[in-house]
Amino acid sequence: MFSAFRRAAVPSLRQAQRLCARTEPRMSWGHMQLCSAASVTCRLLEDCLEISDAGTPMLFNYVWLRDHCRSASSYNSATHQRSLDTGSIELTVRPESSAVEGDQLVLTWPGGHVSKYSLSWLAEHSYEGRKKAAEQPRVLWNADVYQNASLSPAKWDTFMSCDDELKKFLQNYLLYGIAFVDDVPTTVEATEEVTRRVSLIRETTYGRMWSFTSDFSRGDTAYSQLALDRHTDTSYFQEPCGIQVFHCLRHEGTGGRTLLVDGFHAAEKLRQRSPESFELMCRVPVRHEYIESTDNHRNHMVGIGPVLSVYPWNNELYMIRYNNYDRSVINSIPHDAVRRWYVAHRELTAELRRPENELWVKLTPGKVIFIDNWRVLHGREAFSGLRQLCGCYLTRDDVLSAARCFGLQA
Ligand SMILES: [Fe+2]
Repeated sequence: MFSAFRRAAVPSLRQAQRLCARTEPRMSWGHMQLCSAASVTCRLLEDCLEISDAGTPMLFNYVWLRDHCRSASSYNSATHQRSLDTGSIELTVRPESSAVEGDQLVLTWPGGHVSKYSLSWLAEHSYEGRKKAAEQPRVLWNADVYQNASLSPAKWDTFMSCDDELKKFLQNYLLYGIAFVDDVPTTVEATEEVTRRVSLIRETTYGRMWSFTSDFSRGDTAYSQLALDRHTDTSYFQEPCGIQVFHCLRHEGTGGRTLLVDGFHAAEKLRQRSPESFELMCRVPVRHEYIESTDNHRNHMVGIGPVLSVYPWNNELYMIRYNNYDRSVINSIPHDAVRRWYVAHRELTAELRRPENELWVKLTPGKVIFIDNWRVLHGREAFSGLRQLCGCYLTRDDVLSAARCFGLQA
């Protein structure tokens, strides 16, 4: 069965290309070439619909098309929720006819139900498009790249009152995985206020807002004056905290600079230099554990996941779980794979430890940093004297939601 369509409306396809280009600053969308093509054809094949332009087809399963119908009886556009019972769709369903009207594909199903889809919507949501597009545009950085970007920190006053300033902050945060607010009053309360301007606080065993000095009050190295190697926090949570917030309220002494390393930059270098090692870091689940037994706190947390997590459809990195302090027993792979895992882990560690990848920042009172804990590793140098740090974790979903509500891609 075949039905050739007339040339589709070019403006909608241009729009589709813009949408897709917006999602992949590092990758070419050239394979689609929807705008420049002289014609777009749609074909009803035996088991799927093919939309092609210049020989580059997008294929849509018929059940998928019926399931994604946006008619009033199938979809509630006010709540953006599906009304159609997917379980009621005949798995062998196939349109009886098809047509292009304006910038829409129109399918008529057995029984007479009509579904309409804009061509730009189909292009945006096709598997062929998604596997080439980035879910989240990012600027991968080493110290030079970050410093040369000369990003301005947000300022407390405008940040707290101006949505454009918040949007700019979120955009920087999404692109670089770190962002700063300066001139914040040096109190826990003001730190909480600036944090809540961004999103919801995630309460953990450390409390809602934590404030600590080097008094070793908790069973964790962070509560000492020792240097801390680069790591991600709460790797022992099944879902590690999404965002880390730090504010140094007071430091009377020396040292204590904060170390920041873009974990995705290092991981991409590993992917280029040693694809098999990258693959191993993505495939082997590793256990992380936090065991605390003090007078006031008893905890036993376990988080299991690979060091690197990628979306399966486009291999884009979305999380690094790297904490040598909290990594627990490796017992999910046989001994020969363990040997290869250590080689791969060493290669990743070498990338993470390259001096050119280290961004050192002195957190002074008034400067609040937000760190993407699924991407950017942090550490610190040893210090002397009294140092009081406060901060909290944010829920990742809510930060990304806030960004999307500003129209940012997150
Ligand atoms: Fe930490």
